[in-house]
Amino acid sequence: MTLFTPETGRGEPSRPRPGTALVPGWLTLDQQAWIVGQFQAWAAGPVPIRAARVRGHEMSVRTVCLGWHWQPYQYTREATDVNGARVLPFPDWMVRLGRRALKQTGHTDTEVEAYTPDTALVNHYNDTARLGMHQDKDERSLAPVVSLSIGDACTFRFGNTENRNKPYTDLRLHSGDLFVFGGASRLAYHGVTRVHPFTAPDGCGLDSGRINITMRMTGLTD
Ligand code: SIN
Ligand code: MN
Repeated sequence: MTLFTPETGRGEPSRPRPGTALVPGWLTLDQQAWIVGQFQAWAAGPVPIRAARVRGHEMSVRTVCLGWHWQPYQYTREATDVNGARVLPFPDWMVRLGRRALKQTGHTDTEVEAYTPDTALVNHYNDTARLGMHQDKDERSLAPVVSLSIGDACTFRFGNTENRNKPYTDLRLHSGDLFVFGGASRLAYHGVTRVHPFTAPDGCGLDSGRINITMRMTGLTD
């Protein structure tokens, strides 16, 4: 039996902003469906998927984490804002996938070898979910963030490092797309302004809704 892991990619990157790369259709449908199967297991626990509370309000996005648990605005090994359980370990296949993502978006061999993502925030969006403009800045490392999208397409707004306003670029992220942001854009504000229902391709593993995985290096040690 061959163990299937989603480690091969395709497509050429575009660079919508400095330090970013977008590769449409990077994951095959089989790879997407395999990852959705993993997601279903992650979402069940030991830390069940949940909507984080930000300043007293529940986010419309639901999140399950791997490696380190994210809560506003810190990483912990135990999900102290959910049920106190320890999060699932960060899977080796995802480290390899993250390195492949950097390799295929023009990063140097040194950057690729040094890339050891140790947390993933796995977000689930229903038709009406949104994600406000924010920076990913709870990590101590400035290594790139690798983002994978599966299911319905979304409008992903990618902006500048100064504030939530213009200039920003609205990108359509489709099922299977890879987006990497590092370098000059590592601390850029970004968000999801809308999900586009009925756009998930047959065979991706999701009939509706959207999953996004962002893998990151926290720079933290126990
Ligand atoms: C995030 O900013 O953490 C998620 C982005 C996305 O859903 O594409
Ligand atoms: Mn983010």
